[in-house]
Amino acid sequence: MKPLETKNRKATVDVEKWVYGGDALARIDGQVLLAPFVLPGERIEVEPKRTKGNLLRARSPQVIEPSPHRVEPQCEYFARCGGCQYQHAGYAYQTEQKVEILRETLRRLGAIDFDDEIPTIAGDPWRYRNRIQLHFDRGRVGFRRHNSHDLCPITHCPISSPKLNEAIAVLNDAVKRPEWPRFLRTLELFTNETDLQLNVVETDHPIAARFFAWCSGLIPGIVPGSLQYQGAGHTFRISRGSFFQVNRFLIDALVAEVLGDREGRSVVDLYAGVGLFSLPLAARFTRVETIERGLSAYRDIEANTAAAVGRVFPVRASTEDYLRQLTTPPEAIIADPPRAGLGAEATGELLRISAPQLTIVSCDPATLARDLKVLTSVYRIERLALVDLFPQTFHFETVAHLALNH
Ligand SMILES: C[S@@+](CC[C@H](N)C(=O)[O-])C[C@H]1O[C@@H](n2cnc3c(N)ncnc32)[C@H](O)[C@@H]1O
Repeated sequence: MKPLETKNRKATVDVEKWVYGGDALARIDGQVLLAPFVLPGERIEVEPKRTKGNLLRARSPQVIEPSPHRVEPQCEYFARCGGCQYQHAGYAYQTEQKVEILRETLRRLGAIDFDDEIPTIAGDPWRYRNRIQLHFDRGRVGFRRHNSHDLCPITHCPISSPKLNEAIAVLNDAVKRPEWPRFLRTLELFTNETDLQLNVVETDHPIAARFFAWCSGLIPGIVPGSLQYQGAGHTFRISRGSFFQVNRFLIDALVAEVLGDREGRSVVDLYAGVGLFSLPLAARFTRVETIERGLSAYRDIEANTAAAVGRVFPVRASTEDYLRQLTTPPEAIIADPPRAGLGAEATGELLRISAPQLTIVSCDPATLARDLKVLTSVYRIERLALVDLFPQTFHFETVAHLALNH
């Protein structure tokens, strides 16, 4: 859309859509302009700045005609803090738009026109996070500012769980005390709402050990090592450094979507983490091979699946190495890679193996689209579901169920 009006260096434009990454897209004389914290259909006044990548960017757009989907953000730090991008939109609208972003990304990067319905699985859009990273700077506690490495000081976070908010409040006081270890810049907090795990990079550092002991006197529930987490009808041991899903309300729903009603003889769980899918799969399949590269998560899988010995076979390997030596296709493969996606090597091996069912769990639609473009040469997409694990932010999870073409 052309600018409606250009005065000095300011322009008035209509917002077309949200794009993956949190920004909205408008056009000035055919050139793409990206703007944060606005909504599709809104008329905005912007002062465009050209970025290194030759894009136009508007840092602080002024809304002239608001969208009916605009709501008052719940958090006082919204638009300063880098954590959330969508608090100015009603929650139902956020998920509708995420589905549109998914369809558009699949079309643009995967040449995939998926016309079927994409169901959305969503829960409480507040207080859902069980894990956060806090930063500390000169007696202040916070997250990173929007588009910056600077600190955005906070005293609470409405998308984080009550236990994390309790810890944020205590740390705001503790960081000002003389006992506070000055070396500490970043702390990761993970909770099951009873116990709290603190992770610092320098965990073996003697000061870190003293810091944990000191914090244990301030915040109840701090555990020295791993944490036990209930989910999907099982208890998972999660050690420092092991991945676990961050939305405490949607763990069961995610597992239910991934497993569906399938059962059978053989399944492979790639990128298994601590075994979130492997353990429920063991009740449905005779043989579950569970593949994880990270040492800490692998040890957790061994512990978590000990009762299912003879059904679950943990393998510590990279997906690529494991798939390369796989000769007999299992009935089903589940793959839940990190943001980088499966990549050329793993997709190539998956094509060669051609398991009848392949389910991909993805936290990045762009890499999913790239991988599906390759995989749809032999697979068809049976079902796509969007699991909104990250309300108020641009992130979302996609579960893609594929079946081999005959
Ligand atoms: C997104 S997490 C998924 C974990 C698990 N499916 C869950 O839902 O809890 C990805 C996991 O894959 C592991 N990982 C990353 N790259 C890998 C690779 N190339 N091969 C095997 N595991 C890998 C990570 O250590 C992490 O535990």
